[in-house]
Amino acid sequence: MLSDSARSEIQALMARYPKPRSALVPALYVAQREAGWLPNEALDEVAGLFDIEPMEVYAVAGFYNMLYKEPHGKFHIEVCTNVPCMLRGSEKLAEHLQERLGVKLGETTADGNFTLDHMECLGSCATAPMCFVRRTQSNWGRYYENLSPETADAMLDELLATVEEPAPDLPMSRLGPEGAAPYHHDHHPDTNFLLKRIDQPDSHLIDTYLADGGYQAARKAVGMPAQEVLDMVKTAGVRGRGGAGFPAGMKWSFLPKDVYPRYLVVNCDESEPGTFKDRLIVEYDPHQLLEGIICASWAIQAHYAFIYIRGEYMFGFQRLQDAIAEAKAHGFLGKNIFGADFDLEVVVHPGAGAYICGEETALLTSLEGNRGHPRLKPPFPAVAGLYSKPTIINNVETISHVRHVVEHGAEWYRQWGTEKSPGFQLVCLSGEVRKPGVYEIPYGTTLRQLIFEYAGGTEGDRPIKSIIPGGLSMPHILPDKLDTGIDFESIAGAGSMLGSGGIIVICEGTSIVSVARRTLGFYREESCGKCTPCREGSGWMETTLERIEDGGGTPADLDRMVRITKYIDQQSFCPFGPASVWGLQSMLRLFRPEFEAFIAETNPYEAKPDIPVRPIYRPYTGKIVENVLDD
Ligand code: FES
Repeated sequence: MLSDSARSEIQALMARYPKPRSALVPALYVAQREAGWLPNEALDEVAGLFDIEPMEVYAVAGFYNMLYKEPHGKFHIEVCTNVPCMLRGSEKLAEHLQERLGVKLGETTADGNFTLDHMECLGSCATAPMCFVRRTQSNWGRYYENLSPETADAMLDELLATVEEPAPDLPMSRLGPEGAAPYHHDHHPDTNFLLKRIDQPDSHLIDTYLADGGYQAARKAVGMPAQEVLDMVKTAGVRGRGGAGFPAGMKWSFLPKDVYPRYLVVNCDESEPGTFKDRLIVEYDPHQLLEGIICASWAIQAHYAFIYIRGEYMFGFQRLQDAIAEAKAHGFLGKNIFGADFDLEVVVHPGAGAYICGEETALLTSLEGNRGHPRLKPPFPAVAGLYSKPTIINNVETISHVRHVVEHGAEWYRQWGTEKSPGFQLVCLSGEVRKPGVYEIPYGTTLRQLIFEYAGGTEGDRPIKSIIPGGLSMPHILPDKLDTGIDFESIAGAGSMLGSGGIIVICEGTSIVSVARRTLGFYREESCGKCTPCREGSGWMETTLERIEDGGGTPADLDRMVRITKYIDQQSFCPFGPASVWGLQSMLRLFRPEFEAFIAETNPYEAKPDIPVRPIYRPYTGKIVENVLDD
């Protein structure tokens, strides 16, 4: 059922990796393009090409959202309804599209033109409400941002006008956003490095990058002893920007001596709701990242680097592919780079719609061609990572900082920020503020400065009710913490975590009950299902919150949720479990009176406390039980 060209394309993909199995997800994209979805016959053929059991391919295809096991319409429209988008009207957009197309979310129009779905954060929170549209029988896909009912209608008209045309056989998302960076960005007067080039014409091309002094840092690094480069990054104290904030140089120094090959993996899965900074770098300054990759690969002596990019970032994927080809043509990648005795290959690997793959061990499992399930630590990836070899995993922004540290030195970097969080950072501001966007600021800039000086305050000057300072996973803090510095230690002192630097602002007038329900809906949907506390717990939390929001909550629900979140927090297999409940725990703690008042106002059964908790259906046993959670 696969065409000859598809089979050849898959074989070429397999040849790009040290182990061909890593090409399984990219190969499934190729197979999916043939029919617009993945019938079992196609999966069987792919299994034959990889010489593995069909069941292994079925398992992988069934795991990822962007691989379709059922027929879809010619266009797949996914409306992001996660919290930052919800705060900016995405539910109205979803309603409008349902009305206009005459289908509900998850359904396909009768003419087979459109499948409409909701989706979790697409890395576009500053341009919400938005949706991602994919033409299912091609590599074509693009974001439609800042949508209103009128522009959404125009989008549908535009899509319909091309529906009868043959699917464009274009590289992924050649038709993505063009021109200047899509969302607002700004910087402190003294820290304009990572975003400096992104508004220049052709900022993504190597000629403009070279004209701006590009690749001098990589040349310098490759001319230095590798250990000196590593020590420089360690002295600079570059903190990891992916979530944990672990110092990059320190992580690199954990590599076991004399064990090779080693790998560098750059995490561009950027799926934490409220985070959209890496997208700007890969779309508008991909050579900055590649230069950082060369410096880091030299420092750790890795000859293969992988960029794991989330599947929806089709435009960024293409920009990286093009940038790698340009860098190779200049001798900056490939054999004997910069004339040195050092080879480096960079492979861009597309994910396929699974938030868990942002977790470093799940990312590795996915990159090896499997379902994105996390692994037990230890061993840590620095000791046994990709293909069980020493592997360093760093975020896109982290590696981009390395390029500037190598150029200017560790002391230069440490002139900004704080003792423990030196340097500057990209923070993503979203939610109910006037100018959501990405800001390049020194660590220690306060939340108040960011929101009121850089972003112009809140929408409609509404008072702030709550702030999530590090992506949706992190605990909320109250506006009395507005003078907290944005750095790892200060945010921890305020009772939360800086995480991925995704700061979400919620104002008075927005229901915390709704925010809590939508937050847990995300975690229920994205739990990989490997461990019971996370898989079952997140679903129960969402069901409970839905019931509360629908007017069926009881005061006992609140204590029960507090108790269950502790089980999930402490007994899950990987960091996803705790991250799924930290936000809810903080909301139950900080906004308990609002939950209680909501339940008292909306529950018709409040006057009859003898009514039991509603029956709960257990799918694995088929039993219906009552009050199952009571001690
Ligand atoms: Fe919708 Fe981030 S793009 S929440």
